[in-house]
Amino acid sequence: MNKITLKTSKTYDIIIASDILDKTGSIIRKTVEGSTAAIITDSNVSALYERQLADSLSAGGYRTESFIFPSGESSKNTETFISILNFLAEKKLSRTDVVVALGGGVTGDLAGFAAACYLRGIRFVQIPTTLLSAVDSSVGGKTAVNLASGKNLAGAFYQPDIVLCDIKLLSTLTSEVFRDGCAEVIKYGVIADRKFFESLKTPVENHLEEVITRCVEIKRDIVAEDEFDNGVRILLNFGHTAGHAIEKLSGYSVSHGHAVAAGMAIAARIALRLGICKADCLQDILQMLRRYGLPENSIYSAQEIAQACLSDKKRGGDSITMILPVETGKCILRKVAVSELETLIQSGLEE
Ligand SMILES: NC(=O)c1ccc[n+]([C@@H]2O[C@H](COP(=O)([O-])OP(=O)(O)OC[C@H]3O[C@@H](n4cnc5c(N)ncnc54)[C@H](O)[C@@H]3O)[C@@H](O)[C@H]2O)c1
Repeated sequence: MNKITLKTSKTYDIIIASDILDKTGSIIRKTVEGSTAAIITDSNVSALYERQLADSLSAGGYRTESFIFPSGESSKNTETFISILNFLAEKKLSRTDVVVALGGGVTGDLAGFAAACYLRGIRFVQIPTTLLSAVDSSVGGKTAVNLASGKNLAGAFYQPDIVLCDIKLLSTLTSEVFRDGCAEVIKYGVIADRKFFESLKTPVENHLEEVITRCVEIKRDIVAEDEFDNGVRILLNFGHTAGHAIEKLSGYSVSHGHAVAAGMAIAARIALRLGICKADCLQDILQMLRRYGLPENSIYSAQEIAQACLSDKKRGGDSITMILPVETGKCILRKVAVSELETLIQSGLEE
C-alpha cells in the first residue's frame, strides 16, 4: 500500500493499494463523520462494484443511497449534473454527509462538481475505477461538465477528502479504456520524468502500483505548487489543447485518452518545427504511443482543430498557451497568437 499526501487548500491522502474496496467504509469513517453516503456511479461500474461498495459503507456506519447514470462522456452534461443535485436534495443529505464517486473520470468530474455546489460544498470521496482516473482525474480537485460549446466549460476547483485507489478494480477494464489511461501515464513521463518515461517500455500492467504511484507523486508536486492552474499546473494539459478539440469534433466518440494521445503527437511535431525539440524526442514520443496502440494523428483538418481550440478555456484573449516538449521529461509553455494557430496545427498534422 502506498499513501501520498497532497497539501492544497485542503490536505488529503491518496491511498493506492490492491483489494481495499471491502475496507472503504471503515477507511472513510476515519475522515468523514456524516451519516449518509451518496454513491454516484455509471451503469457499467454499478453492475460491477456498487453492491460491494454499498456493503462496505454500511459496515462503516453509513446509510447509503445510489445515483446511477448512463456510462460515457455524453452523460457529462448539465442535465446529469442537475439530476445529481436534485437527488442529493431528495435524499436530504446534509453538509456533513458524503458524496462518493465510484468510477472513471466522467463520474469523478460530475460527482465532484455536484459535491462542490450542493449546499455550497459537501464532503467528497473519490474511488477511481479507470487507469485514467487513478493517475489523473481523481487527484487535484478539478471538477467539471461539458457545455455544447466545449469540454469542461462549467466546473469548480473542489478537492476531495480522500482518494481510495483499489488497483484490483482496474482488472475489468476493456483494453481500449485501459489504453486511455496509458496516454495520461505517458504524458507524465514527457512533462516531468525522463526515467519514468523510459520505464514505460515495460508494459504498464506489469508494474501498475509503481506506475500509478509515480504519476500521482508528479501530480501532487505540480498541484501543491499551483492548485488553481495559473502556472506550472498548465503543464498537465500537454496534449489537451488539440486533444479537447478532437474530442469535441468527434461528438465525443473519440475518447479522452485517445484524443490526448493524438494531441501529444501534434504538440511534439509542432515543437520540432519550431526548433524547440529534436527529432529523437518526437520519435521517442511517437514510438511510445505506438507501443500502447494509441493514435498519432487525427482525421480532422488544421482549420477544424484550430476553430475548436478557440472555444477552449485555455484561450487567453488573442493568444493560446501551448505545452511543447523540449525533451522527454521536460516541457515548456509557449503563448501563440490565435492568428498563428491554424498554421502551427497544420505543421503538427504533417508526418
Ligand atoms: N478532473 C481532471 O483533472 C481530469 C483529468 C483528466 C481527465 N478528466 C476527464 O476524465 C474523463 C475521462 O475519464 P475516463 O477515461 O475514466 O472515462 P469514463 O469515466 O467514461 O470511463 C470509461 C469507460 O470505462 C467504464 N469503466 C469504468 N471503470 C470500469 C471498470 N473498473 N471496469 C469496467 N469498466 C469500467 C465506464 O463505464 C466507461 O464506459 C473525461 O471527461 C476527461 O475530461 C478529468
